[in-house]
Amino acid sequence: MAKVTLEHVGKIYPGNVRAVKDFNLEIEDGEFIVLVGPSGCGKSTTLRMVAGLEEISEGIVKIGDRVVNDVLPKDRDIAMVFQNYALYPDKTVYENMAFCLRMRKYTGTGSQQGGILKNFVNWLGNRRQKNEDIDRRVKEAADILGIRDLLRRRPKALSGGQRQRVAVGRCIVRNPAVFLFDEPLSNLDAKMRVQMRTEISRLHNKLRTTMIYVTHDQTEAMTMGDRIVVMKDGIIQQVDSPSEIYDSPNNVFIAGFIGTPPMNFFEMEVREVNQKMVICDEGGTINLTLPPEWTSPLQPYIGKKVTFGLRPEHVGSPSAEAQYNPQTISATVEVIEPMGSETYLYMKVGSAGFVARVDPHRKCAVADKIDLAVMIDKAHLFDIETTNRIV
Ligand SMILES: Nc1ncnc2c1ncn2[C@@H]1O[C@H](COP(=O)(O)OP(=O)(O)O)[C@@H](O)[C@H]1O
Ligand SMILES: [Mg+2]
Repeated sequence: MAKVTLEHVGKIYPGNVRAVKDFNLEIEDGEFIVLVGPSGCGKSTTLRMVAGLEEISEGIVKIGDRVVNDVLPKDRDIAMVFQNYALYPDKTVYENMAFCLRMRKYTGTGSQQGGILKNFVNWLGNRRQKNEDIDRRVKEAADILGIRDLLRRRPKALSGGQRQRVAVGRCIVRNPAVFLFDEPLSNLDAKMRVQMRTEISRLHNKLRTTMIYVTHDQTEAMTMGDRIVVMKDGIIQQVDSPSEIYDSPNNVFIAGFIGTPPMNFFEMEVREVNQKMVICDEGGTINLTLPPEWTSPLQPYIGKKVTFGLRPEHVGSPSAEAQYNPQTISATVEVIEPMGSETYLYMKVGSAGFVARVDPHRKCAVADKIDLAVMIDKAHLFDIETTNRIV
């Protein structure tokens, strides 16, 4: 168990590609941290610098209190699971898990001093002890992962999810201070992904080892992380708990990246009408009065355009409709997607499209014009130039 610290870490690849820029993060001992962002944003590079698989161009990385910039990967006390976890095809599950332990030097208790016979007896004793130790560790890991009855099989006789479990098992037996995962579930089918997601969370609850998990999948980030690090173009955008990231995104990028279906964005103008702040769209079809506590932060924006962000569950949802005296958006239904527990309505208002998550029993048809209640206090406004959140 160890905390992991990154201070002003940067990565410059040959050709002056700056993959990671001034990355600062302190990962608590035992924390499950998720790095999330679109492909190419520098997640793997960051993880590989922690693992020692990639040289650190700038800054320092610490595992525990030790600066590891110049420490070899094998001496960093970490274990890593990749998307393409290569198991040895000719070895059994048991041997796949035991292999890295066998490769390790085992320092037994016997003295190195003495005659040939004594040394031989010591060696035998140590070897037995090492084998018992390996056997115990492999079986413990297999129990944790529920693969005890697969130990004699070879990888080709396993499903994708089972193979992935073996790959994780290989890490568990080493009892590392830090687990690193790089998109470990990407090769699995959707159902198995969801199942393994829960299993990795359960594993973390059991082991309480520090885990750094890289994914481009915002659902994995939201469901697994104690904290989420959202990255874009090699730069950290926000570090927060999943609920903070979801409820108070720092900017338009995060707001649009986290959440499915994503947040709706409208370009609107801020106006002051009868001492109240309102926002309107170009055609005057959307006209919403803003909460009084937004008046002060919006002063500099009166008469200016802003980006209005509204999550699908905050327009037309049962809780929005249940609000006393709700404000509404009048829009035309374009597509209806029943999801079972809820229905997504793809709507058109003026030239803008948006999606609403409504009650599945709500009656409507394509081309209907309907009024959808808006939970305005849940909405956000973003500066159009900086894209930063204003409220
Ligand atoms: N070995 C390399 N040489 C040059 N550029 C690289 C190398 N590896 C990655 N990159 C670039 O660094 C950026 C970040 O890559 P990566 O860390 O793999 O992103 P992610 O894991 O978020 O998809 C990308 O622009 C990628 O093209
Ligand atoms: Mg990657």
